[in-house]
Amino acid sequence: MSNIQPTEFIVIKALENGVHVIGLTRGEATKFHHSEKLDKGEIMVAQFTEHTSAIKIRGKAFVQTSHGQMDTIVDE
Ligand code: TRP
Repeated sequence: MSNIQPTEFIVIKALENGVHVIGLTRGEATKFHHSEKLDKGEIMVAQFTEHTSAIKIRGKAFVQTSHGQMDTIVDE
């Protein structure tokens, strides 16, 4: 991954205030390295990079990737 420029993006749209987009590190240890707070209607466009192997989304959001689109909403 280090010498490859990522081309894909994931799009996250917050459906409520206080949605967190959390970046998790690549490598032996998988740790939080960045948390971005989005308010309702805000959009973040992000990539998987040399430093980021996984992204966790906390809160109500709509997510679009090349694998499809989904929301985080669970019926209770
Ligand atoms: N500096 C981080 C990186 O290059 C920035 C980043 C990329 C990020 N994708 C992310 C932060 C997804 C949070 C979520 O990896």
